[in-house]
Amino acid sequence: MDSSNEGNLNFYDLHPKPADFFAEVIDGLNKTQKSIPPKFFYDKAGSRLFDAICDLPEYYPTRTEINILKQNSDEIADHVGAGCLLVEPGSGSSHKVRLLLDGLRPHAYIPMEISREHLRQSAEDLGGDYPWLDVHATCADFTSTIRLPYSPEGIRKVVFFPGSTIGNFEPEEATRFLQELAGLVGPNGGLLIGVDLKKSKDMLHAAYDDEQGVTAAFNVNLLKRINRELGADFKTENFCHQSFYNELLGRVELHLVSQCDHTVSISGECFSFTAGESIHTENSYKYTIEEFQDLANKAGFRPQAVWMDDDSLFSVHYFIPP
Ligand code: TRP
Repeated sequence: MDSSNEGNLNFYDLHPKPADFFAEVIDGLNKTQKSIPPKFFYDKAGSRLFDAICDLPEYYPTRTEINILKQNSDEIADHVGAGCLLVEPGSGSSHKVRLLLDGLRPHAYIPMEISREHLRQSAEDLGGDYPWLDVHATCADFTSTIRLPYSPEGIRKVVFFPGSTIGNFEPEEATRFLQELAGLVGPNGGLLIGVDLKKSKDMLHAAYDDEQGVTAAFNVNLLKRINRELGADFKTENFCHQSFYNELLGRVELHLVSQCDHTVSISGECFSFTAGESIHTENSYKYTIEEFQDLANKAGFRPQAVWMDDDSLFSVHYFIPP
């Protein structure tokens, strides 16, 4: 581990192993239902497109969650308590945590993010804006075992996991991940987590297939990245973005659908597509309050409080170990 310290900002590099982009793409495209893991969406262009998605009028989750955090910041602070060690896996720009800091006055904040430069910049900005806050920025992959580089004895640990990122895991993986978080925070810790709720198909369809085509561009960007980084010859005009709510499984699915019979080569390996065949690129599971509490319960958490918007679009839960 490399580490450095400057004023109230500490930086730790746990050297997350780069995923094997080539091997995982080849592996996914050899499956009967072709698929590519969603973590590969986020190159520079993909990250920019994702930020644009969060600002779309149809994409309700981001602004709804922000309003829930703002409107309930006092109550949230009462539950979480002052002086905790606040850990945020996949902290990105660390925008949402700002809504909590003044109320929570944590002992320290640990943003954990795989994207090294994004983390460095966000942590510097945050440390500058909150001079009283100790920031322990940690470059790590939160989907592999989470290790805390800083964990003073006697300080309660609370995980903040917003954005309904938990919905991008399969339910069994989500349970396993929450189990890991329960172990991380220990018997007197807590978990503050944002979860998107089940709702009308129409609203879900619009949120993942916007008028301006930003979500479509985000999905198709994956093929452009594969062309550029893996020497592939995807013709993006041969694929269409498709998203739909799979009611049976309670998830929005994102696909790239081939418009014709054709073949694609990736560094000499050939893959054939029939017209209508798709590459499955993402799931976003939606839960009811009860479904999510059951899932968290299996992982060893007890519900303490839930906050929602007036239209019950989105939920923020606070859980503690039994
Ligand atoms: N976790 C969020 C969600 O599922 C954000 C997200 C991840 C997303 N991948 C996406 C949003 C693709 C739109 C398209 O909603």
